Amino acid sequence: MTARTLAIPGATVQVFPDPGHACAAAAGLIARSIREGVAARGGAVIGLATGNTPLPVYDRLAALHRAGDLSFAEVSTYNLDEYYPIAPTDPRSYRAYMDRHLYGRVDLAANRAHIFDGTVPEAFAAEHAAGFDRWIEAEGGLDLQLLGVGRNGHIGFNEPSDLRVDAALRLPSRPTGLHPTTVEDAAAEFGDATLVPPRALTLGVAPILAARSILVLAFGAKKAEILASALQGPVTAGVPASLLRTVAGRVTWMIDEAAASRLG
Ligand code: F6R
Repeated sequence: MTARTLAIPGATVQVFPDPGHACAAAAGLIARSIREGVAARGGAVIGLATGNTPLPVYDRLAALHRAGDLSFAEVSTYNLDEYYPIAPTDPRSYRAYMDRHLYGRVDLAANRAHIFDGTVPEAFAAEHAAGFDRWIEAEGGLDLQLLGVGRNGHIGFNEPSDLRVDAALRLPSRPTGLHPTTVEDAAAEFGDATLVPPRALTLGVAPILAARSILVLAFGAKKAEILASALQGPVTAGVPASLLRTVAGRVTWMIDEAAASRLG
């Protein structure tokens, strides 16, 4: 299925008829990045996202693996974020999500499937998060970072802020507070907004934007308004996804018609 490409200055945007076709293309891009990394350097380093958006991507990657067409044996993965505090055995943790949807379905080594530890003691949370930036760097950087976009424009849990753009671009991996919209969106999963962990550990804007290639997925009418801001509004820390336009040449946006409906 061919996508139509939007002529938006500073962004490569592919619009698919529906999320299924976009996710098939996204999985294809990730599989290619893995194969190329393994062929060129003996391994690949992939940044992953959770949430509803990438679920069909993981189904597709698992199917490729089952069919014998894709191995994760030489792959390291780093997830964008994790609630804090949370137990890895909590089904709502991103660790449990990744176990269900990818780790448990492919041949990824346990010590290469990295996701922040929601049980790390409070006093060591910042050090734990900062460690991810060093681990990624030590592995030669991310070959590809998969991203979703929050309704408020967050990427990972880098929430909207009034930071200057240059300061926002330097944000490292760290503990952070969740924005009210993020809490609202997680409320159904946790039963009630008051039960959502108020904090999280997130990869920073800097390590995300340092990836050699970035693949952003966003689907549905509820993402239309924020995509218009991120792609056609000012580049601002108030809309973290707009910061992706500072590295436009490395970013591919794959969206569906509904999410594209507010783009002029
Ligand atoms: C998830 C993450 C978040 C989500 C975003 C969109 O690891 O970092 O930024 O990508 O909140 O969530 P969904 O896909 O559920 O709309």
